[in-house]
Amino acid sequence: MNNWVLIAGGAGYIGSHTAISLVENGYRPVVIDNMCNSSPESIRRVESITGIEVPLIQADLRDSAAVRAVFDRYAPSAVIHFAGLKAVGESVERPLAYYDCNLGASFSLFDEMLRAGCHSLVFSSSATIYGEPQQLPLTESHPIRPTNPYGHGKAMIEQIIMDLGRARPDIRAFNLRYFNPVGAHPSGLIGEDPSGIPNNLMPFVSKVAVGRLPRLQVFGSDWPTPDGSGVRDYIHVMDLAEAHVAAVRALPGQNGVRAVNIGTGRGTSVLELVAAFSAAAGQEVPWEVAPRRAGDIARCYADPALARNLLGWSARRSLADMCEDTWRWQSRNPDGYGEA
Ligand code: NAD
Ligand code: UFG
Repeated sequence: MNNWVLIAGGAGYIGSHTAISLVENGYRPVVIDNMCNSSPESIRRVESITGIEVPLIQADLRDSAAVRAVFDRYAPSAVIHFAGLKAVGESVERPLAYYDCNLGASFSLFDEMLRAGCHSLVFSSSATIYGEPQQLPLTESHPIRPTNPYGHGKAMIEQIIMDLGRARPDIRAFNLRYFNPVGAHPSGLIGEDPSGIPNNLMPFVSKVAVGRLPRLQVFGSDWPTPDGSGVRDYIHVMDLAEAHVAAVRALPGQNGVRAVNIGTGRGTSVLELVAAFSAAAGQEVPWEVAPRRAGDIARCYADPALARNLLGWSARRSLADMCEDTWRWQSRNPDGYGEA
């Protein structure tokens, strides 16, 4: 069987790390990305880490002709679909742009997959689709109640994939619901490179540690959690990358479409993460308490049992690994890929 895997949105944070894991497991990644939130430098560095050429096609997924040309040339046996806009707050301000990009890209990609006879798909969904947790840990059967356009879009794309699976029994897909991806490849060569001031905790903490931002604001110290700060299920991006390889490997034996949580099952508070990062960086990360952020929840963590049973995958890396690898990437690349 052809071992090309098409990575849509593969120049971004999770896609570039997944490209490395795919190569390590005998697959050949080919990337299509419009570079709206990434740099071609990430793929150059993937090539230097793996020693393998990774074709990068710079095109928007909504450009059907460009997507068709990729299927015609490489005939990939599976697709991993990371492409989309991902800032929750921005999606509230610009819902049409979010639905246009995230749904439009998916329609075009799925259409061209079917046209090319490629029926194996792994889709990047998110734990955000669960909304406010009714019970913890979150299992895949928890109600789907997104609270913002980004989350609604993810839930809609999951539904579209389920409907495709009902219409076409030869379609096999995993909707992977990620919890909070953090960390970087241990080489320090690739990592998360958000544009502007980061919204998410780990990139913000690492920008403070490298001296680009003065201090962290801890959003709320009165949450119903052991230390009063918010609790999340942080997962190392290389564990997440390996979950994608496990999913691609499991696809041929899969019947239809399944949603699978990808998390560690462990909750970590903001203050625990700050302490772990300070230890990894060998310096105290300054922080102050600020009001709760609108739309935040107290606690969120996965039940990862289905991933273990269905994909044979579990997260292996610790919070210390996540902090050390983030710090290696950030301290060696204080301006991300910008300086390359
Ligand atoms: P990212 O922004 O680094 O990567 C997404 C990539 O898609 C970028 O390289 C971007 O240029 C590309 N892209 C966007 N729209 C495109 C289009 N129309 N055509 C072609 N390329 C396009 O984000 P990431 O953190 O790597 O996330 C990957 C996926 O995982 C996203 O779908 C995101 O919603 C999902 N996800 C991310 C997180 C997280 O916290 N990072 C959590 C849950 C789910
Ligand atoms: N936090 C701070 N200060 C900051 C940033 C975050 O205290 O400057 C806190 C938040 O209040 C929360 C925790 O750190 O308690 C994590 O916040 P993130 O913004 O890093 O992550 P979220 O869980 O809010 O959301 C993320 C992604 C979503 C995704 C969700 C679940 O942004 O897109 O994880 O996967 F849907």
